[in-house]
Amino acid sequence: MKILDMTFVRGFIRMADDGFRMGWHERNGGNLSYRIKPEEVEIISPRLRHDSPFVPIGASVPDLAGEYFLVTGSGKFFRDIKDDPEATLAIIQIDDKGENYQLKWGLVEGGKPTSELPSHLMNHAVKKRMTDGRYRVIYHAHPANIIALTFVLPLEDEVFTRELWEMATECPVVFPDGVGVVGWMVPGGEEIAIATSRLMEKYDAAIWAHHGIFCAGEGAHSTFGLMHTIEKSAEILVKVLSMSQSKKQTITPDNFRDLAKAFEVSLPEKFLYEKDK
Ligand code: 13P
Ligand code: ZN
Repeated sequence: MKILDMTFVRGFIRMADDGFRMGWHERNGGNLSYRIKPEEVEIISPRLRHDSPFVPIGASVPDLAGEYFLVTGSGKFFRDIKDDPEATLAIIQIDDKGENYQLKWGLVEGGKPTSELPSHLMNHAVKKRMTDGRYRVIYHAHPANIIALTFVLPLEDEVFTRELWEMATECPVVFPDGVGVVGWMVPGGEEIAIATSRLMEKYDAAIWAHHGIFCAGEGAHSTFGLMHTIEKSAEILVKVLSMSQSKKQTITPDNFRDLAKAFEVSLPEKFLYEKDK
């Protein structure tokens, strides 16, 4: 079967294009990865190459040894993915130590996987372990409203989660575990990958101050939906803060507790703190 006809590839390309059209991927901003299922690898294996050199990942991910990933290429524009997936995307396999990767398909005009490969793979390793392998998608985007908030809110998980939850009743139901935040760090390396993957042990979303956000999920649909929900909530918060520094009314901690009961989600009390009036 042609690789481009595979359902997971089509879903990946649609997600990338949806993200571009949302305005979250200026130039080459953002990156996306999918941990391919063994049965999908089996179908595409006659169309994979095996002669590429092994290249260091820049991080150690022994729990992902032997796994295959579909990833966006570094410096490739999300705008181009739909029209030229073979030049903008790559399928890679991790070696048996979890230290190197090998290009198996794609990047036909040259290039390498996203510079955020260490963060993607370390997040995949955490989510694979913590969800019994259910989570397969890691998505990094540059949505303007989330980034804007990192200039005016304290960079604390509790504050970001609570403020985003207050902006839309659906938020605590969509991300009941909350969101994490890391302060500004140099992107593209192991240090930021370690910091992000630590947050992924607690949350499905990790905000990078003055840069963007990573989301994790089972599939393309749910992971895109999480990104969309968080950014929409951030947009409302930006509008509210632009109109006034104080809210006349909002969703209260007790409202959240009622919501948790009605929707059968558990909302950690650390996010339901009392605020100074
Ligand atoms: P890449 O083009 O290497 O994926 O980098 C884009 C980006 O968003 C870095 O954080
Ligand atoms: Zn980025």
